[in-house]
Parts: sequence; C-alpha cells; structure tokens
Amino acid sequence: MLAIIGGSGLSRLDILQDTALEKVTTPFSESAVEILTGSIGEQKLAFLPRHGKTHVIPPHKINYQANLWALHQLGVTDIVSVNAVGGIDPQMAPGQLAIPDQIIDYTHGRLHTYYQENLSKVVHIDFTHPYSKRLRHLLIVAMEQQGDDLDEVVEGLPVTQGVYGCTQGPRLETAAEIIRLKQDGCDMVGMTGMPEAGLARELGMEYACLALSVNRAAGLEKKPITMEDINHTLVAGMAEVKKLIPVFARLYAADEQARHKSAV
Ligand code: HPA
Repeated sequence: MLAIIGGSGLSRLDILQDTALEKVTTPFSESAVEILTGSIGEQKLAFLPRHGKTHVIPPHKINYQANLWALHQLGVTDIVSVNAVGGIDPQMAPGQLAIPDQIIDYTHGRLHTYYQENLSKVVHIDFTHPYSKRLRHLLIVAMEQQGDDLDEVVEGLPVTQGVYGCTQGPRLETAAEIIRLKQDGCDMVGMTGMPEAGLARELGMEYACLALSVNRAAGLEKKPITMEDINHTLVAGMAEVKKLIPVFARLYAADEQARHKSAV
C-alpha cells in the first residue's frame, strides 16, 4: 500500500475519499498512531501527518520509530514524504518543488534505529541511495505531467535531484551553518527527513521525498526569515502539492498494475 507522510502545511489531506481512521499500537509509543486510510480515484492510500493533526509536534519530538512501525504494520510498502525545506541552491527559490536524491543527517539525539537492543546480531543496512528510484521517477513524471498547470507560486522547472541536509531544529540555522551545509553539498535544508528515511529502509519500505522550498536558507537573503513569509509560501505551495498527489496516485496505480502483471 502507498502512504503519504504530510509535513508542515499538509496536516490534512481532504482529497482522500472513503476515509477510515486506523489506530495502530506499536512497541514504541504509549498511545496508538492514528493513520487515515482512504482512496484517491482507484488508488488506496494511507495518510499520516507527522506533526500531528493540528501541527503541534516539533521535528525533534516526532516519534519517527512509532510512525514508521505503524505504517509498516498497516501494510504500507511505499512512502512519499512531503517536507517543507529552506532553499540553499539558487534553484530552490521559495515555492520550488524538488525531489532530492541524497541526504545528509545532522540531527542528534533522535531515536534513529530499530536495531537498538536485544539483538541476535549487529545489523548495518545499505543506505547508499536513501531514496527509492522508482518512487522518485514516478514523482518526477507526475510533476512533468502537471507542468503547465502549476500556479505561478511554483517557479521554474521541477528540481529532479539534490541533497537534503537534515538539521535538528526547531530553530532555524545560523548563516555559518548554512555556509557549512552548502560546502557539504546540501541543496536544501529541513528538519524532518531523518531518521524517517533510515527507519523506512530498516523496515524494507520504499521511500521518496517531495520537498517544497518555503524560504531561502539563513543568511542567503538580507531580510530576516519570518514565519509569516514561510506560512504564505507554505499555503500556496501545499495547494500545488495537493494537486500533484492525484496525478502521482494515478501513475503509481498504473505502475503497480504493470509490475503485478509482469510478476505473473
Ligand atoms: N531550515 C530548516 N528547516 C526548514 C527551513 C529552513 O530554513 N525552512 C523550512 N524548513
């Protein structure tokens, strides 16, 4: 099954039809993880807002272990994660959508693995390519198909690759930190990409990120970064993301059918 993990600005997915609320218990949380299931056209999917339904859980407090476990438990195999980011590369202007192909993890103190204790052996998963090639391809095709329909807020062409630097937050970065991230090769910076992507890989789920730039990263513009500007871009950008999801869901459904046919 397909899942969308919603980030800032995407706490609700009102385009989902025939919805049901699943409450999944996990060994990693006292309360059950609430996941909305439903469909878009023919495609069934699950939706999990990582900051909570009312956007109250900050990036460093998200229970990534419980969330990914619950999705897996529900039968999810493929995840599209929607993340708001700050743009570092000049192409990543506010409103720009991007599909990163790499990630650098700068977070600390987050519970980032299932291979923690009571192990019969030490496990090191391969994470050379953190994002799913197949899901990235389908997202890129969806963006190309949607192309001309994108409102003006989403400038330029889709950015089809890039390095996502994941910082701890919840504060934004210093100008020097962004210079360092840029030197490291980061094209965008966010706070929620990890450990989510790593935990998905540990559970064998495919995972891709749809990033929306909502501001230029710290120090790249003279004016200060304000929540007001971020929210403004977030609202307009996520409206575009909500238009993109049904296009992606259609492509995903067709791809799944083709895969199952060729498997028999
Ligand atoms: N830095 C980190 N995370 C973010 C930013 C940023 O500038 N904008 C949106 N999420």
